[in-house]
Amino acid sequence: MKKPASKTLAKFSGPLVLLGAGKMGSAMLDGWLARGISPKQLVVIEPHPGKAVKALIRRGLKLNPKGKPAAAAAIVIAVKPQSAPEAVPPLAAHVGKGTLVLSIMAGRTLGFLENALPVETAIVRAMPNTPAAIGRGISTVVANARVSARQRKLASDLLAAIGKVEWVADEALMDAVTALAGSGPAYVFLLAEAMTKAGIAAGLPADLAARLARETVSGSGELLLRSHLDAATLRQHVTSPGGTTAAALAVLMGPGGFDELLTKAIAAATRRGRELAG
Ligand SMILES: NC(=O)c1ccc[n+]([C@@H]2O[C@H](COP(=O)([O-])OP(=O)(O)OC[C@H]3O[C@@H](n4cnc5c(N)ncnc54)[C@H](OP(=O)(O)O)[C@@H]3O)[C@@H](O)[C@H]2O)c1
Repeated sequence: MKKPASKTLAKFSGPLVLLGAGKMGSAMLDGWLARGISPKQLVVIEPHPGKAVKALIRRGLKLNPKGKPAAAAAIVIAVKPQSAPEAVPPLAAHVGKGTLVLSIMAGRTLGFLENALPVETAIVRAMPNTPAAIGRGISTVVANARVSARQRKLASDLLAAIGKVEWVADEALMDAVTALAGSGPAYVFLLAEAMTKAGIAAGLPADLAARLARETVSGSGELLLRSHLDAATLRQHVTSPGGTTAAALAVLMGPGGFDELLTKAIAAATRRGRELAG
């Protein structure tokens, strides 16, 4: 049975402004409500709200409010990075003394956000990943110099709604973080696809190969999560000398194999992140 979320946000006083209630924004919203935030504390700015957001209006959520807003305790930015130049500056109306701004936009730097918002705004930039949709993401976070210890704790609590949280001190690491964890789910899904194709090439019916690959990838991920052993040890446990796994690993771990390919792939993604940031 799934454990109920602990009410880490029950004492949060609000208001909490969410800009963009798409895939990520909605996943966060669900997590916040499960952690004790009241819909009355929520302000959502979203041109095309889904049913779930609209249903919360009856419980006190404010959708696209007009007029002069009260200063927010926190503002979460979850629009696409390309919407940022138009969508972020109007948030200044919600920024007051003590407001924390948390952005999950890929590639939008602390410098960009500082330029778009009032001087001295406390800002954190986070990079989550898509398992956030089931509360199993991991977000890596970096803060600007204005963020207090209390605001760091608030950022961690807000992001815990979609998974684990890691802090880094150096923003330059965010391109590598994005290449490893932001893009990472795509590498794992590609692994499942490649295992399916390889199974078919080895003679399996396509639907059986797809089921075997899916359960093997997801089950191994769950085992890695639950085990106290690291990935290398778990791999060694599957590998007897001279056996079938050893034959496969001799190919995968040989020259031009998995390690080399992933190192090249993650380096390419890191470079691309730097280019996009300009
Ligand atoms: N999905 C991921 O794997 C992932 C991972 C890491 C980080 N992120 C970051 O998370 C952010 C959100 O991604 P997502 O996948 O949730 O995108 P999404 O589903 O497209 O959600 C963005 C939402 O913002 C709305 N929006 C657009 N312009 C707006 C504006 N001016 N004011 C208010 N709302 C506006 C969009 O409405 P319309 O649809 O009507 O335009 C949409 O509902 C992105 O910055 C992305 O870089 C995503």
